Amino acid sequence: MDCDVKDIKLAAKGKMRIEWAARFMPVLALIRKRFEKEKPLKGLKISGCLHITSETANLGITLKAGGAQVRLCASNPLSTQDEVAASIVRDYKISVFAVHGEDRNTYYKHIYQALEHKPDVTIDDGADLVSTLHTKKQAMLKNIIGGTEETTTGVIRLKSMERDKALKYPIIAVNDSETKFLFDNRYGTGQSTLDGILRATNFLFAGSTVVVAGYGWCGKGVARKASGLGANVIITEVNPIRALEAKMDGFNVQKMDDACTKGDVFVTVTGCEDVISKRHFSKFKNGAIICNSGHFDVEINKKQLAEYTTKKRLIRHSCEEYLLKNGKRIYLLGEGRLINLASAEGHPAMVMDMSFSNQALACEYLVKKGRGLANKVYKLPGQLDSEIATLKLKSLGITIDKLTPEQARYISSWQFGT
Ligand code: ADE
Repeated sequence: MDCDVKDIKLAAKGKMRIEWAARFMPVLALIRKRFEKEKPLKGLKISGCLHITSETANLGITLKAGGAQVRLCASNPLSTQDEVAASIVRDYKISVFAVHGEDRNTYYKHIYQALEHKPDVTIDDGADLVSTLHTKKQAMLKNIIGGTEETTTGVIRLKSMERDKALKYPIIAVNDSETKFLFDNRYGTGQSTLDGILRATNFLFAGSTVVVAGYGWCGKGVARKASGLGANVIITEVNPIRALEAKMDGFNVQKMDDACTKGDVFVTVTGCEDVISKRHFSKFKNGAIICNSGHFDVEINKKQLAEYTTKKRLIRHSCEEYLLKNGKRIYLLGEGRLINLASAEGHPAMVMDMSFSNQALACEYLVKKGRGLANKVYKLPGQLDSEIATLKLKSLGITIDKLTPEQARYISSWQFGT
């Protein structure tokens, strides 16, 4: 079978991880059951550039159950779970091209390999697949019905392509479904980011000062969880509305130029470059821990950090000690890449259940409607979003109220007033 994984003999361990994740993905399981019967993706070739985790394995299995031929590659060099990659290949007969720690060349070689079967549909997490197709493999574009995008950064990139009229096929922004960003971005990133920091450092949050750069849904999650562990949280923002929101959520709001002297731990979650750069490094406290939970490793300027460093060593897994030119030491986690995946296991399956249910339904939607869509970025219809929430509530044993016919009339009417 066409694949490139670290060691196929790791598969037995990977299979157990995949089965463990499946326990927490009941909505995706329901979709899989329906897909097995209806085969809505029959004959479809899907290339997916995603974090190769036990949750992604369950998505791949679901797409295959729907009749698709699937090829997967990594969306980050450090997020691949090698044993899971091995099991996806051996036990589920899905091609995977991903090795944890792969260099940049191998990362792109794997993207090309995932595209080799000439996909009808692409699934991206960060838009590297779409970007590669549009810049290096244009001949394949005409076959493609559409694509999906998992993450905020990818959606921003794709909307910029749409604005420039560069986008050559329609995209469903899975990230923009409410059952995605309200849960995955907030609770998923919130918890898994702290999990990553803890695994890399065993740091005690209680009483510490944590600086969170960015107060989008991911930043909100990280700030809330750090606060829950007893940290004093400082938010840095460029958006005045989000900054105000952070203030009224009870957090201290400052400029990074000021916060950089106060933090024990720094987490960047902005999606932007150079959030922590040259002018901050010399001002950090001795022992400061810095990490990133945004999609790309651009938020902490690693080149400038290296220039201001006299010595570095890997002191713990995912934790590099930098001896700075001013004699202080700081600690960079996960090489400045997504700390939740580089050092921990990414978001828990419980939230990925909803994200990947959106992905599966988006693929089905593209088969049904893709040819009629313009080359734009779309949201998944709200009705599918609600359906996922309803199924998730049901899986949690929660029933909710229903509008009476009178209430339904009232709520949709403009005539009733004082
Ligand atoms: N993104 C964040 N967490 C993830 C996970 N567990 N699997 C796949 N993609 C992810």
